[in-house]
Amino acid sequence: MLEYVPGLAGVPATKSKISSIDGEKGILAYRGYAIDDLAENSTFEETSYLLLNGNLPNSSQLSLFEKKLKSNRRVKYNVKKIMRDLPATGHPMEMLQTAVAAMGMFYAGDECLTGGDFCEDVNYVQNMSVKILSRMATLVAMWQNIRRGYDPILPRDDLSYAANLLYMLDGKEPDDYLTRVMDACLVLHAEHTINASTFAALVTGSTLASPYLVMAAAIGTLAGPLHGGANERVVEMLKEINGPQNVQAWLDKKLANKEVIWGMGHREYKVKDPRATYLQTMMEDWVKTRGKLSKLFETALELERACEDRLAVKGVYPNVDFYSGILYTEMGIPKDQFTPLFAVSRSAGWLAHWKEQLTDNRIFRPTQIYTGEDIRLYGPIENR
Ligand code: COA
Repeated sequence: MLEYVPGLAGVPATKSKISSIDGEKGILAYRGYAIDDLAENSTFEETSYLLLNGNLPNSSQLSLFEKKLKSNRRVKYNVKKIMRDLPATGHPMEMLQTAVAAMGMFYAGDECLTGGDFCEDVNYVQNMSVKILSRMATLVAMWQNIRRGYDPILPRDDLSYAANLLYMLDGKEPDDYLTRVMDACLVLHAEHTINASTFAALVTGSTLASPYLVMAAAIGTLAGPLHGGANERVVEMLKEINGPQNVQAWLDKKLANKEVIWGMGHREYKVKDPRATYLQTMMEDWVKTRGKLSKLFETALELERACEDRLAVKGVYPNVDFYSGILYTEMGIPKDQFTPLFAVSRSAGWLAHWKEQLTDNRIFRPTQIYTGEDIRLYGPIENR
């Protein structure tokens, strides 16, 4: 008898060497390196190299990788043109999915292979990973100006990945501190074992679809509020609470109505998500360094405390989305760009999994437990 497991909880769907989670101890590691170690010491470029290739690069490998990323920051005029035609009121995740899928058409040919033997072509997979990783940031940042009717800010080749992303978002060159904060955010969100969007990437990749379609599938999956879209909801929720003094009454009401508290809970962690711990520390540092109190942060701290009393028994603690949106808000990033930024960094993990899937590919085709009608005869419409 086949056992049905809702949400495939605890069912291994793949084997992977890319990242690991110890949900009891609250440890996340990329290729064996603990996430806080990487967030503290690495850059997004270096972490992406690690995820894609399995080991940290030496200095010449890193500078070559950085050079390739920089040289692929520009996107074709046609991609910009299609973005200009999209409604300014649309959600940036819909824009991103559209633009990434459209790139598959505008870069047709050598850059957009599908089927055939490409999965054995290590160079193709590697080159496409660099191109997509680089262009993801460009698309998200370009949308800031395009949706307001202005020309997008062109990428700069003299800035790091994080600094260029911030620069393209608002045209101001970020200081070292801001760049470091963005870099750490990118590192923290880059990979997280086989979550829903990574699974979507694997399923699409397993059919030998083009890498653009693999990414488009993953972007669509990340957008939902139960996954990457939760960071936006957290900020809306904290604004609605409107200050730490209102937390307890607000929480009691929500839990009595069996509503979800955004940014809380995770299938894999039974303790606080280590990324939430790191982001909270970053936020504390931000308040100290910038010398400005954050009402959202004060409210979040109180909400975490109140949730501990009510939800810890169920193993529900803050996840990555609980503090990230607050930090992005303080950095001046618009709320609807939080999840697209998540997609930019997670593209490193998606691409690493795509590569891993192709090295030993078998199409995903699970089974189901049928609960419908037995075989029956077709009756003419006048007899129904
Ligand atoms: N708020 C309130 N209760 C929550 C909760 C939350 N955010 N997350 C889980 N719970 C409760 C569930 O109601 C359930 O309670 P019950 O046993 O009394 O029915 C219990 O904890 C187990 O949760 P479950 O829904 O089975 O967990 P899951 O693994 O299926 O879902 C999430 C995981 C992430 C989808 C879920 O925790 C959630 O919806 N969180 C909010 C959205 C979010 O922040 N997503 C980003 C994830 S990184």
